[in-house]
Amino acid sequence: MNDPSLQQRLDLARDASLEAGHLILSYFQQNDLVVELKEDDSPVTIADKGAEKLLRKRIEENFPGDGILGEEFDEKISQNEYRWILDPIDGTKSFVHGVPLFGTLIGLEQNGRLVLGVCRFPALNEVIYAAEGTGCWWQQGEGKPVQKTVSQQSSLKNATFCTTTPRWESYGKQEAYIALLNKTKLARGWGDCYGHILVATGRADLMVDPELSPWDAAALVPILREAGGYFLDWSGEETIYGGNGFSVNATLKDDVLAILSENKDIV
Ligand code: IPD
Ligand code: CA
Ligand code: CA
Repeated sequence: MNDPSLQQRLDLARDASLEAGHLILSYFQQNDLVVELKEDDSPVTIADKGAEKLLRKRIEENFPGDGILGEEFDEKISQNEYRWILDPIDGTKSFVHGVPLFGTLIGLEQNGRLVLGVCRFPALNEVIYAAEGTGCWWQQGEGKPVQKTVSQQSSLKNATFCTTTPRWESYGKQEAYIALLNKTKLARGWGDCYGHILVATGRADLMVDPELSPWDAAALVPILREAGGYFLDWSGEETIYGGNGFSVNATLKDDVLAILSENKDIV
C-alpha cells in the first residue's frame, strides 16, 4: 500500500478489533449476561458497549482528529478527512443466543469514500480485511493471511443465497424473498456480517438484507469491492445510507438487482 496513513489505520483496526474480541468473548455464552432492549427493540449488552468504548479509545489515542460514528454512542465529529464507522457486535442476536456467527465491524471513510474495512469474528478467531488497492484478505487463527475473491458463479439457478431473516414482509419485500428463493439453488440463513463475508470469500454468491444501518454496512463496502464483488443498496448504489443492502459477486449483480427492484409487495 502506498499510503502510510492508511496502512497505520489498517494496523490499528486489526489490533483494536482483536482486543475488542477478547473483551466480547469474556461475555460470550455466559448464563448471567444481561440483555437490554433498545428503543427499536433490538438487544444490546455490556459486551456491545464495552467493545465500542475500547475501539473508540484506541482510535482517539492514535488518531485524535479522526471522527467516529458508532452504533452505541454519540458521534464524534471529524477534524480531518477521516471518519471511522463502528459496529462493535454485528449479530447481537446470534451473540446472545450463544451462536458464534457475530462480528466486530470497522469501516473508515476518507473524504466520504469508504477506504478500509475490517470484520473480525472473535468466536471463530478469524479476520477479514481490505483497504483501498490491497485486495481482500482472510486470516484464520494465527495462520498466514490468504487473499480471497468473490465466486465466479454466473448462473443464478446454481447460486447460494444467504439472508439474515426470511421475514421480509415488514419491509414490503416478501415477494423479492420468494423470487430469490425460487430462482437460486441453495438458501441459507447465515446472516448478519457473516453472510456478507461468505460472499467476499467466495463461499456464497449473494447475501441480501432488507434492513441495514450505516454501521452494519461500512466495513463491508471496501471488503466486497477489494474482493472483486459489490456491496450495494437495493437501488444499486454503493451506499451505506440506503437502509438495506446486498453483497454479490460481479456476474450476478444485475440479475439480483432486477429481482430486488421488480418484486414489490402490494401494500
Ligand atoms: C443487525 C444486523 C442485521 C440487520 C439488522 C441490524 P446488530 O445489527 O446487521 O443483519 O438486519 O438490521 O440491526 O443489531 O446485530 O448490530
Ligand atoms: Ca449491526
Ligand atoms: Ca451492533
